[in-house]
Amino acid sequence: MVTNFLHKYQFQNHQLALPKKQFVTYAVYALIAVAFLHFLLFYPAPASEKPVVAARVQEEEVAAAVSARVNAREQLLPPPPPPRRRDVALGNPQAMEEVAVPPPPCDYSDGEWVPDARPPLYNGTSCGTIKDGQNCMAHGRPDTGYHYWRWRPRQCDLPAFSPEAFLRWLHNKHLAFVGDSLARNQAESLLCLLASRSPTELVHRDGEENRFRRFAFREFNATVSVLWSPFLVKATEKAERAGVRHNHVFLDAFDERWMSQLGAVDAAVLSVGHWFLLPGVYHDGGRVVACHDCADLNHTETDFFGAFRDAVHRTLAEVARRHGGGGGAGEEKVVALTTFSPAHFEGDWDKSGACPKKRPYRPGEKGLGYTEAEMRRTVVEAVRAAAGSVSGLRFAALDVTALANLRPDGHPGPYMRKDPFGGGGGETGDGRVPNDCVHWCMPGPVDTFNEILLQTLR
Ligand SMILES: *[C@@H]1O[C@H](CO)[C@@H](O)[C@H](O)[C@H]1NC(C)=O
Ligand SMILES: *[C@@H]1O[C@H](CO)[C@@H](O)[C@H](O)[C@H]1NC(C)=O
Ligand SMILES: *[C@@H]1O[C@H](CO)[C@@H](O)[C@H](O)[C@H]1NC(C)=O
Repeated sequence: MVTNFLHKYQFQNHQLALPKKQFVTYAVYALIAVAFLHFLLFYPAPASEKPVVAARVQEEEVAAAVSARVNAREQLLPPPPPPRRRDVALGNPQAMEEVAVPPPPCDYSDGEWVPDARPPLYNGTSCGTIKDGQNCMAHGRPDTGYHYWRWRPRQCDLPAFSPEAFLRWLHNKHLAFVGDSLARNQAESLLCLLASRSPTELVHRDGEENRFRRFAFREFNATVSVLWSPFLVKATEKAERAGVRHNHVFLDAFDERWMSQLGAVDAAVLSVGHWFLLPGVYHDGGRVVACHDCADLNHTETDFFGAFRDAVHRTLAEVARRHGGGGGAGEEKVVALTTFSPAHFEGDWDKSGACPKKRPYRPGEKGLGYTEAEMRRTVVEAVRAAAGSVSGLRFAALDVTALANLRPDGHPGPYMRKDPFGGGGGETGDGRVPNDCVHWCMPGPVDTFNEILLQTLR
């Protein structure tokens, strides 16, 4: 029913026809958008002040390395290649057995957070690449309970993150994160998780606010890049200071800043969504086909779901067109899409206590909002539509929406800045403190996204 509704009203004005529940979510997101504008404009998450080369990790490792090296080398060699179908054809019984009994598929999206005493693999001291806005511990967040939870899928097991296993997979490979600031958040979580095992080095950066960066793990000839593209397709971003309140998104043009790099990439993690909630004008074939939050423009107001769906579907189709068809067994590229990561504002974004919770929601305690559910569903369906469309490419959904929805305790809140209640965050002068209830503290729940990514890649 919802599908029909959205289909029918995709690019028409249906604000007045919104079901009550949808309207409420819609309105809430209009408010949240204001918070976003502020974050993304005024707190564009500048690069860490620390040198990006994780010198401390390197020093510590020098001592341990001498004795560990021999073992590590063995341990870190790439695994033997998986048995090929050719082996089956040739009647290799062992290979046939392995191919015939694949591990049971696991639905990582359905589960609950359970207490876990193990400390995180990294922290604000040990990892040099934590973005300032997400370094909650260093900024004085007093509680640490949010570190001690692990996601337990209902049907199966999600292994703890293994930097060794991930680096083994990444050996001689290039992994790219593409998207908005949540893609960056996930990329930076991965960099810290991997840096707990092997030093990382910034080898390239480009663009304002370091929107395009490439990191190397030399020991493994492994590369991780972070590429900015908040709509996946081509767009010109709002510029509030210049009086441009809307993003302009071109649904029929691709963003070559990342698309053109895909040929050199073995796996890409795409993560977008939140920018579609901002005021935006959507163009297709030279016409305006959708407009969100457009009261001040002479365009028909629509929602953003249809535009989001178009952007994701067209992007995956283009990736398949350009890069499908190649690759034998074991050489396929992976394109994973992280599903929508919900925000947890409970009040005004610039009043204290905007996301005050100190522990995860229990199962059933917090359902998914309409907007979050729609954004998630769009990605899952786009992946399903693209899956199997071409050889040489494997599309996958990193379905984190439900597990992220249950973590109101994992956001920086006021600790996006140092000592927020001691003058650090009171820049507005009236004691108001900006809160980030969108991105994730590091370490924090976003590390679980990468636990699932590891299982998806191998
Ligand atoms: C941070 O991590 C390092 C290295 O694992 C550890 O030695 C240190 O105790 C941690 N610091 C805190 C505050 O947890
Ligand atoms: C290093 O990795 C890249 C892919 O990122 C690959 O093209 C290259 O051949 C690798 N170099 C060696 C020496 O294996
Ligand atoms: C607004 O749209 C209407 C209907 O298409 C048109 O007649 C009018 O000229 C437009 N106004 C402006 C300022 O573009």
